Amino acid sequence: MNKRVLSGMRPTGKLHLGHWVGALDNWVKLQDKYRCFYAIVDWHALTTDYDRSSKIRENIIEIASDWLAAGIDPEKSTILLQSLVKQHAELHLLLSMIVPLGWLLRVPTYKEQLRQLSDRDLHTYGFLGYPVLQTSDIIIYKAELVPVGEDQKYHVELAREIARRFNNLYGEVFPEPKELLTPVPKILGTDGRKMSKSYGNAIFMDDSPENLRRKILPMMTDTERKRRTDPGTPEKCPVWTLHKAFTPKEKRKDIENGCRTASIGCVDCKKILIEELTEKFSAFRDKKRELMKRKDEVADIIIEGSKKAGEVAERTLEEVREVIGVGINSGRI
Ligand code: TRP
Ligand code: SF4
Repeated sequence: MNKRVLSGMRPTGKLHLGHWVGALDNWVKLQDKYRCFYAIVDWHALTTDYDRSSKIRENIIEIASDWLAAGIDPEKSTILLQSLVKQHAELHLLLSMIVPLGWLLRVPTYKEQLRQLSDRDLHTYGFLGYPVLQTSDIIIYKAELVPVGEDQKYHVELAREIARRFNNLYGEVFPEPKELLTPVPKILGTDGRKMSKSYGNAIFMDDSPENLRRKILPMMTDTERKRRTDPGTPEKCPVWTLHKAFTPKEKRKDIENGCRTASIGCVDCKKILIEELTEKFSAFRDKKRELMKRKDEVADIIIEGSKKAGEVAERTLEEVREVIGVGINSGRI
């Protein structure tokens, strides 16, 4: 039987090019090799945004449309919404009984996020338990592979340790999940910082050709290339990070040489990038536009996927309740 894969994203808004190269492109490819579960984790969105929850519902449809338009195929993969599969919450609660507090307090992202998101009060039970909920998402489907970026590596390690602790306490129920690290070409935003919606420097997958021009033409370049006649250094240029991710190798060679010898200008270089992105995401834009006109159908796909996921999750929970010894076994006491 094919190994199971699970990954998830929080519904915090539409997806940008960083999500595409860092995750989605890989998710689409994994569908043909594994039994994939892709989760929209709306409860996770609440862990940091419990006091600004009003956008979550529309974001769920938006992110599902992004996935579908990008080629996540509900015939091949299971798209599920975390809050529709209640077993995630049950397993989260049961795991919370066995996870030592020290393990959670040691998670590097915990302290870091508390510091970074200092405008909100994250000293909550739910936020500390974020990785326990994530563990539940993964092991409830007995997933062995978890495609994630470097930043999530520790969370998957923790999931492995929690699964092991469960198995030692109650018996072998869960395979130990492993991260499937996506080699992520680093993409910078229009201002030269890491691409992120919260920095306002993101290029979205569904940006129109007009928006691509508006964002890319004024984009920061190699700051030492002041005049058209100055040679440039692509490695110092945010535009180049996008070429590296999206422009085919052959074409890229010419641009690289052109930049180093000042035979092309930055405007020429950016125009080529705009063309590439316009072309590459043209089918995606059309498909997404269609889907956003038929939100009910998108919602149905999510509901249907969550039902299927729920059946798998329930089978796992039956085993879990049994080995722990909670509940009553089919009326036989
Ligand atoms: N924590 C992940 C993120 O912020 C999202 C997530 C939730 C996830 N549950 C998951 C990722 C399970 C992989 C597997 O990106
Ligand atoms: Fe950057 Fe292109 Fe200008 Fe070189 S030519 S500095 S790669 S924008």
